[in-house]
Amino acid sequence: MDPSRLARRLAEAGQSHLLQFWKELSPEEQSDLTFDLQEMDFQEINRFFQKAMEMSSGSKQEKMDARMEPVPREILGSVTRDRERLKDWEEAGLLCISQSKVAVLLLAGGQGTRLGVSYPKGMYDVGLPSRKTLFEIQAQRILKLQQLAEQNHHVKNCVPWYIMTSGRTMESTKAYFSQNLYFGLDQNNVIFFQQGMLPAMDYEGKILLEKRGKLSMAPDGNGGLYRALGNQGVMEDMERRGVEFVHVYCVDNILVKVADPAFIGFCVKKGADCGAKVVEKTNPTEAVGVVCKVDGGYKVVEYSEITLATAEKRSADGRLMFNAGNVANHFFSFSFLRDVVKKYEPELQHHVAQKKIPYVDPEGQLIKPDKPNGIKMEKFVFDIFQFAKKFVVYEVLREDEFSPLKNADSQDAKDTPTTARHALMSLHHRWVLNAGGHFIDENGRHVPAIPRSGGAGRFSDDGKTNLKDGTDLPIKCEISPLVSYGGEGLEELVKGQEFHPNLMIDETGVHQLVKNGV
Ligand code: UD1
Repeated sequence: MDPSRLARRLAEAGQSHLLQFWKELSPEEQSDLTFDLQEMDFQEINRFFQKAMEMSSGSKQEKMDARMEPVPREILGSVTRDRERLKDWEEAGLLCISQSKVAVLLLAGGQGTRLGVSYPKGMYDVGLPSRKTLFEIQAQRILKLQQLAEQNHHVKNCVPWYIMTSGRTMESTKAYFSQNLYFGLDQNNVIFFQQGMLPAMDYEGKILLEKRGKLSMAPDGNGGLYRALGNQGVMEDMERRGVEFVHVYCVDNILVKVADPAFIGFCVKKGADCGAKVVEKTNPTEAVGVVCKVDGGYKVVEYSEITLATAEKRSADGRLMFNAGNVANHFFSFSFLRDVVKKYEPELQHHVAQKKIPYVDPEGQLIKPDKPNGIKMEKFVFDIFQFAKKFVVYEVLREDEFSPLKNADSQDAKDTPTTARHALMSLHHRWVLNAGGHFIDENGRHVPAIPRSGGAGRFSDDGKTNLKDGTDLPIKCEISPLVSYGGEGLEELVKGQEFHPNLMIDETGVHQLVKNGV
């Protein structure tokens, strides 16, 4: 495109300032900038901006709060209240997996800003004895699930793993998988695709420059999924493979049960086209969205968008009224996803996040603001719930299934590498106890299953261990996903046996570790 045409397009869209340093740029920078600008539909971006700003106005939010209702009992399944049906659901899910009807889809396009690392979060090593990263743990859970489905139904099967990355994470994610030989998965069944990016804007809708010749761009939110599914050939790939059900999840939860057969079986048996996994939210300010009903449709109201007064409301039993905490694990039928991609995606609104966005000012200086100076626009993955014909919610236990990695370790920080590591090892500790194993201390005495009041390893009311970084669990126990997906198959390895507090069970056997490691 010739420069004058580009300049005209920008002028029409009120974005001429993007070329203000044009003459100072090297020919290479000019051609990169031209390339980026040509790609963009400015009229569409301006429309997104106006709508997003309207949606996010305070009065709209308060009005929405007033219309929120808790999730009704009849659409809720629960691992505790429906214990007697769990086996049925699990078997139904495993049958679907054995028929290769289930795919998992990982949302891994985020930038991990809060964690403060420059590489994809899935490559993070939280310091487990095995030093496995989140990606490796998830890959091994998929491998194990395929094996379990094969054992139960005597047929080879495949759970394809679709991984959504962004311009920020694509290359490093792919390289990491390739270096690690796809962690034993068949490379053909690990499918990467890329979500879109949107520019950051100031409050007047002007696109910000990150450098003189470079726009400030960010991924378009995990709800960018639906556009990407449509324009990257992913729906066709799923159709070709005969995928009927998709488990969509976020990269950061170390306890995630990828393609959880019980969750899938529950949704399938209920005839649902869309489902959400939740844990009980117990602390009004916890950074989780809540699943609820608004004007007869289902929604997640995000933690950044709920008012404190509503978040603090309690029911007669003393529990939070809006306590269906979204753990970002969703079930979609393929046909529902196809309808979303074909019909509903354009109806999804962008949400606005006010951010401190470094920018180049008109004098060409890079400014790093100390308070929010602009917005990023994001679609959210759960905003399609409103289109579901049959929506269900599945409640699980936080200590079994939810420990996200959001922040770097520091005093009083929540959702850190330390809390993630502790959550996984506490769960595996309990698996050993449930399978009839015992832990003994240095005097040969059985370590009590539930640590004494006030002691290390106690859970706080939001289910997280109270341990701070620096202290460690009294019992360190890690079980490879290749040995057990969800606590099954351990009896023959541990029943009636006594272990010292550093235990590792992997595909090569049961190992007592020397203190603090391998
Ligand atoms: C998310 C949920 C929140 C939930 C919480 C549980 C959304 C919008 N919010 O919040 O309701 O209670 O997890 O931990 O889902 N991602 C992309 N592309 C993007 C942005 C993010 O793929 O453009 C991915 C990230 O890589 C990550 C996931 O989406 O896997 C969640 O992103 P994150 O920003 O961590 O979400 P939260 O704000 O913690």
